[in-house]
Amino acid sequence: MNKTGFFFLITILVTGWIFSSVSDKDKPKDLQVLSFETINETKTYMKTVAKGLGVKCIFCHNLDDFSLDTDHKKIARNMMKMTKTLNEDYFSWKDARQIECWTCHQGEKEPPEKK
Ligand code: HEC
Ligand code: HEC
Repeated sequence: MNKTGFFFLITILVTGWIFSSVSDKDKPKDLQVLSFETINETKTYMKTVAKGLGVKCIFCHNLDDFSLDTDHKKIARNMMKMTKTLNEDYFSWKDARQIECWTCHQGEKEPPEKK
């Protein structure tokens, strides 16, 4: 192989390595209910979750590693599963309004009780 060919090969290998490591870093590590491909998409949804319950990320997360489970995160995962089932099985007609955390929680950790 001549010098140009060798240089070309190295460039391809290095570029491939950079791209693969970036995309690995941007992949969620432990999604059991949600099906987002990237951390960014996951965070966009998480903002609606936090707003729905009127809490910050730390209510559910260890901020050093978002993929670790906590007690609140485990409850929230079940709530996400429930919400998904409600939407897919019960609010599935065309233009049906979709159930969100907000629908029940209304910005509270625990949904308001009857007044
Ligand atoms: C009410 C609890 C709750 C709040 C508040 C919350 N999250 Fe989450 N988050 C979860 C749950 C549950 C999962 C895992 C979902 C699954 O298993 O599909 C998750 C997963 C994630 C992940 C993917 C971690 C991985 O690699 O597996 C990221 C990133 C994340 N959340 C970021 C955030 C950010 C940023 C905020 C604040 C804006 C936030 N979350 C607020 C419950 C919460
Ligand atoms: C159908 C109504 C409903 C929906 C939709 C709903 N929740 Fe809940 N959630 C409740 C109720 C009711 C409670 C209180 C249960 C109790 O404490 O007895 C609760 C409690 C919780 C708790 C425990 C709070 C605490 O103080 O420890 C978390 C966390 C939670 N929900 C997360 C979520 C998330 C995240 C979503 C959206 C993905 C969601 N919920 C959607 C009804 C709902």
